[in-house]
Amino acid sequence: MDKLIIEGGVPLAGEVVTSGAKNSALPALAACLLTSEPVVLHRIPRVRDIRTMEKLLEYTGASVEPNADGTVRVHAANLERPEAPYDVVKTMRASSLVLGPLVARTGRARVSLPGGCAIGARPINLHMHGLEQLGATISQSHGYVEAQAPNGLRGATVHFDRITVTGTEDLLMAAVLAKGETVLSNAAREPEVADLAELLIKMGAQIEGAGTSTIRIQGVESLHGAEHTIIPDRIEAGTFLIAGAITGGDLLIRRCVPEHLAALIAKMRQAGVDVREEGADALRVKGGGKLRSVDMTTEEHPGFATDLQAQFVALMTQAEGISFITETIFENRFMHAQELSRMGANIRIDGRKAVVAGATPLTGAQVIASDLRASASLVLAALVAKGETLIDRVYHIDRGYEKIEQKLEAVGAKIRRTD
Ligand code: EPU
Repeated sequence: MDKLIIEGGVPLAGEVVTSGAKNSALPALAACLLTSEPVVLHRIPRVRDIRTMEKLLEYTGASVEPNADGTVRVHAANLERPEAPYDVVKTMRASSLVLGPLVARTGRARVSLPGGCAIGARPINLHMHGLEQLGATISQSHGYVEAQAPNGLRGATVHFDRITVTGTEDLLMAAVLAKGETVLSNAAREPEVADLAELLIKMGAQIEGAGTSTIRIQGVESLHGAEHTIIPDRIEAGTFLIAGAITGGDLLIRRCVPEHLAALIAKMRQAGVDVREEGADALRVKGGGKLRSVDMTTEEHPGFATDLQAQFVALMTQAEGISFITETIFENRFMHAQELSRMGANIRIDGRKAVVAGATPLTGAQVIASDLRASASLVLAALVAKGETLIDRVYHIDRGYEKIEQKLEAVGAKIRRTD
């Protein structure tokens, strides 16, 4: 199993180019199942979750041609097997994104139910309930959910009891081929939802309001092929912003969308970090000043992203004072705290709150990555720690960060991979 070895203490300096967003690329790939014509997607990050989704599309019968430059051509001419098997779903919960497209296109879908994962229970009850409202018959057996709609789906009003990102995306993809109008209310407002809608509109869908909490969809008979470029990964860009700040460096993060990072930027400025917009699509972070502790609560977009919580906790270990971090999206997303504590951080977990007392000098240690964003938090801590840190189970980071070592190395980090 791969490990990362990081020698801390180098202020990072230079430029980082943000990759395409993993969490936008995943639904975009699933959306390719909605048409029998080829769809070409650009800036698909070459990360493990994407390879998993590509395998899943192939399993259903689609042909998938990825290029090294990040372009992927998907042609779902025939879908002989509208299924997502357990082996795939267990490694990536976002596999449930194929449920909506498969039932909309073929009238049936069989998708393994995801189990819990390191960050929480991850149920898909809201996806299933929404599809039922669109007229699908849903049953569960042998760990699989089966959706049937032999005569097609029909438009309806679907109100989400709680905001769900992939749930909104799944229902959006189902509704574009349903008969009549669908209204999704209390929908997720994440930029990735808006990006998916943009692709679907290029494919011939009629959608209004994506990116707001009410999305209106007029179903169409069929969709056609299209070409689309995925938005920049705001979580990757945010992770590098924090990397610049935590190491007291000077980084220019290019090809990002500053507006997507507004909540993080506001918190970083409150903490005393100099973050500036450089034109429409770049951010510059300069660290080195004294960091102040700030409180932070994760929320759905446009609030502070749960996917940046672990990284922000790492930053707060270097800030003067007590910081209260509240996680409201997932019930168990503080696995990084214990590992950070092994490096010298002072963090107490109290239910959904982490209390971080700083500033604490960190020292290199052997730590274990428990999930994707937790591993990013350990990398950040290692970059500022004295001495060498060995991060085990880095396959977690490979799920979502493209060329992480190369990108960090290019701005001065001492990082290498070993097995
Ligand atoms: N929830 C339910 N029932 C459902 C769906 C969700 O109770 O049917 C709950 C979840 O358990 C959670 C909350 O609702 O407590 C929000 O979950 P959501 O459905 O929004 O999460 P997701 O769609 O499974 C996506 C991202 C995650 C990100 C969350 C929250 C993708 C592929 N994944 O997951 O990304 O943390 O939204 O923003 O878009 C990551 O990239 O590291 C990652 C975990």
